[in-house]
Parts: sequence; structure tokens; C-alpha cells
Amino acid sequence: MQNSIFDIEKQAFESIEKASDPDQLEKLSIKYLGRKGELTKFLRNISCLPVDERPGAGKNANILKGKLEKAFKTAFLKLEAINDKNFAGIDVTLPGRPVPRGSLHPITQVAKEISDIFLRLGFNIAESPEVETDYYNFEALNIPKYHPARDMQDTFYVSENIVLRTHTSPSQPRVMESCKPPVRIISPGKVFRCDSDITHTPMFYQIEGLMVDENISFGDLKGILTTFVHQFFDKDTSLRFRPSFFPFTEPSAEVDIRCVMCKGKGCRICSKTGWLEVLGSGMVHPAVFENVGYDTDKYTGFAFGIGIERMAMLKYGIDDIRKFYENDVRFLGQF
Ligand code: PHE
Repeated sequence: MQNSIFDIEKQAFESIEKASDPDQLEKLSIKYLGRKGELTKFLRNISCLPVDERPGAGKNANILKGKLEKAFKTAFLKLEAINDKNFAGIDVTLPGRPVPRGSLHPITQVAKEISDIFLRLGFNIAESPEVETDYYNFEALNIPKYHPARDMQDTFYVSENIVLRTHTSPSQPRVMESCKPPVRIISPGKVFRCDSDITHTPMFYQIEGLMVDENISFGDLKGILTTFVHQFFDKDTSLRFRPSFFPFTEPSAEVDIRCVMCKGKGCRICSKTGWLEVLGSGMVHPAVFENVGYDTDKYTGFAFGIGIERMAMLKYGIDDIRKFYENDVRFLGQF
């Protein structure tokens, strides 16, 4: 009995293939799919099959029904087209359908732009893990347990000693442990903090910078960061270095730039101060050098950390950091 469904299929397709006018097709359609058609009869007789063959037979017959309906439709259209004297075949001169073009996420673009500036200044890129040990994220950076500086960097704990890194600074001890000075690296990537509002997202991006050698001074830090700001924004953007505190740098400085929106006149974006904070920096603390076994009499260095979203927001005049992560193509498509 199962065989006959295959016979029906074979015969039906053969005759559809041979049919040369719509009338003939119509008759064939009735022959197989009509009220008294072969397939209809087959379906009706399923109840005469042994119980265990019924479900399989029913399924096969229904699949064939679908296939035949489709085949008849296509065959009709084909015959219609052939009989239509105005039908000129496929018009190969029609313009193709445009394939929508994707683009890199604005954060990826800005990260690349920042990296390119430092690559031209002789820095190399060092990768560092996002899931980090408490040691590299805090201890090695001179932030002991219970130090108040940990408060500002509360994060997601995988276990007591494993965290999602709160900054890209763990790349500093990691790189220094694996190579001797001179060191000149940047390290871009994701960082995480328990923070969420119009200027903070729980995940964001930073780029770390580290330069260590003999005779590196605060002057080198200023020179490199000034060059960077001038290349990223424009060379009329002025900077100021404001004393600050980070446990892993001494002295530490926060870098502000002249507000790119109001050019220093004072506006909503810069809270009427005319200045915008863009990065943290400082001279590497001797305790960090000691943790990685660098000779503190011989080497000095500087480090800095740039927030990538913040740079992108200032460059493109974006007022809400969350827009980067809402996946709205109307926003993303503008970059
Ligand atoms: N890691 C610091 C932060 O996330 C920034 C920083 C990096 C400061 C390097 C000094 C040196 O806030």
C-alpha cells in the first residue's frame, strides 16, 4: 500500500512535466487532487491500513498533497507565461536589489581610531582578560582588600577571588610580568562596574596605556596625551592636568579638555565649567613596579586610562551613553 503513494507521486509529476496547455493541467489537477482524485482516495482509505502504518501513510500523503499543489501552481504560471505574447523572458537589464551595507559599531570605530593614534606613536597592543583575578584587578595595583578605592569600583564577582575587571589597568602588571622594559603598550577592552544611568553602563570600554623605561618623566606623559588629544579632536583643543588620586599612580592626574561643545564658554554638557574630564593618568607607583619585580631605581613610567564611550560621545555630540547599547539601527546606521 505504501508503494502506491510513491507510484502516485511519480505518475503525477511525470504528467505535470508533459502537460502542454492549461486545460490539460486542470484535468490532471482534478485527477490527483479532486474530490474523487487519486490522492484524495488514498487519504480516505488510510483507515483500511494496519494500525501501525496509518500515521506514516497519512503524513506522506499530506506532504505529497502540498508538493503537488505547489507543482500545479508553478506549472500553470509557466504555461501562462509561455502563452503570453508580451512575455519577454527574464529581463537581465533590471538593476539588482541593493544588499544593505553594514558598518562597524561606533565604539569599535572610535576604539580603532584611538588605537591607530597610539600605534603611530610607537605603542603596541596588548590583550588582557575580561574575567580577572582579584590580584591583578586590585592587589597588584596597590589596592589592598578593604581599601576605600575599592568602593568606587564595585563589580560582578564570579567567585571571591575572580571578578569581571573594573578597569583595563590589570593589563599593566600582566604585561610587566611578561616582559622587561622598555614597555610601550595600549590595551583596549570591556570593563564592568555596578553602575547604570545616563552617563554609566554596567559594561563599558576603556583603553589603557603604559610606557616604562629609563628616564620617563611627567613631561613624556603630558607630551603623549597632548598629541593624542590634538589628533583625536583637533589641535586647538586645550588640556589641563588636574591633581587626582589613584592607588597605582603617584602623582596622579585627571585630564580635562576644553569643552568641545561650547569651546569653554560653559554649557549643559560641561556643567558650565568649560572643561570636560576625559581620562585618568599618572606616574606608575613604585609599589606596582615592586609587585612585578622591576627595579624602581632604574625605571620610571606613566600610565593612563581612557573611557572610549566618553570620547565617542564628545566627538559625535551624543548625550546618552545607553544609546550605544540599545541596538537601534536608526542610531547605529549614522556612523
Ligand atoms: N584605571 C583608572 C580608572 O578606571 C584610570 C587610570 C588608568 C588611572 C591608568 C591612572 C592610570 O579609573
